[in-house]
Amino acid sequence: MKETILTGIQTSGTPHLGNYVGAMRPAIEASRRTDVRPFYFLADYHSIINSHDPAKLKHSSMEVAATWLAMGLDTDNATFYRQSDIPEIPELNWILSCMTAKGLMNRAHSYKAKVQANEENNASDPDKGVTMGLYNYPILMAADILMFKAHKIPVGKDQIQHIEMTRDIASRFNHHYGELFVLPEALIDDSVSILTGLDGRKMSKSYNNTIPLFLPEKKLRKLIMKIQTNSLEPGAPKDPKGCTLFEIFKAFGTEAEVADLEKRYEAGIAWGEMKQFLFEYINEILSPFRATYDELMANPGVIEAELIKGRDRAREFSVPFLHEIRKAVGFSPLG
Ligand code: TRP
Repeated sequence: MKETILTGIQTSGTPHLGNYVGAMRPAIEASRRTDVRPFYFLADYHSIINSHDPAKLKHSSMEVAATWLAMGLDTDNATFYRQSDIPEIPELNWILSCMTAKGLMNRAHSYKAKVQANEENNASDPDKGVTMGLYNYPILMAADILMFKAHKIPVGKDQIQHIEMTRDIASRFNHHYGELFVLPEALIDDSVSILTGLDGRKMSKSYNNTIPLFLPEKKLRKLIMKIQTNSLEPGAPKDPKGCTLFEIFKAFGTEAEVADLEKRYEAGIAWGEMKQFLFEYINEILSPFRATYDELMANPGVIEAELIKGRDRAREFSVPFLHEIRKAVGFSPLG
């Protein structure tokens, strides 16, 4: 059997250049691999932990799905679905909850960070603002992964603990009920670029410093013009290292183009000129994808059809596998 690569895509916020080069681009490339079984899904059950606005939730799922499709996700080879379309996942989530030590969840970084913040702020309750959804986040993630017998999980470093917890939970289940689950491994790609945002910090929606992928042309130009630089005059040699403009270019340009730009930095390119150059370069790359994206956003039925296709393919696997799991646990006909 082919190895399964599976990853969940958060459906909060508008996808930006940092998301694209960090997570999407490698995943889209991998979606064409026929030597593995790629699974990608919109993690919308996870989204309702933080987002309680139904219209926003829906819009966000649409934007994220449209972005992945527009950027060339191969949905014939990869199975692309919405977590909330797979009822087997929440059922498995419950079964796994009954095999998960509460103490394991107490150790989750994201939960601990919340408690620590509450303590620092002298909150009356250290669990202030913590829902059971947030607390159980790692179990739902384990259900996402174990449901499809995934082997490799491409994620950022911040998710490593969740994969380890998944292994813990799966081992406990396997030990008790029989070897049904595959123990997954995190797949961390150190070669992907991490982009800096408008203000020089890591590009992230929590810093509000992102460049969304599919801004209209004028807005894209305006944001690129806003990127912070130092105050070196035109003609003064500039250091490409640590320069946000250069870094963004590097994430898209060919090796030869990057080498050429390095020379222009040395020769003292003006920041205004560099920004205009970067805008034109990025805009030319994004334009055709933006057109597809706009078309998808205007025709949500097309996006929906893709997700339904993915749902049906995913459930071909999850329905019979959950049946086996239920049987192992002792849910089967009495006579
Ligand atoms: N927690 C992941 C993140 O924040 C998203 C996610 C949910 C996920 N379920 C998953 C990733 C399963 C990999 C596998 O990025």
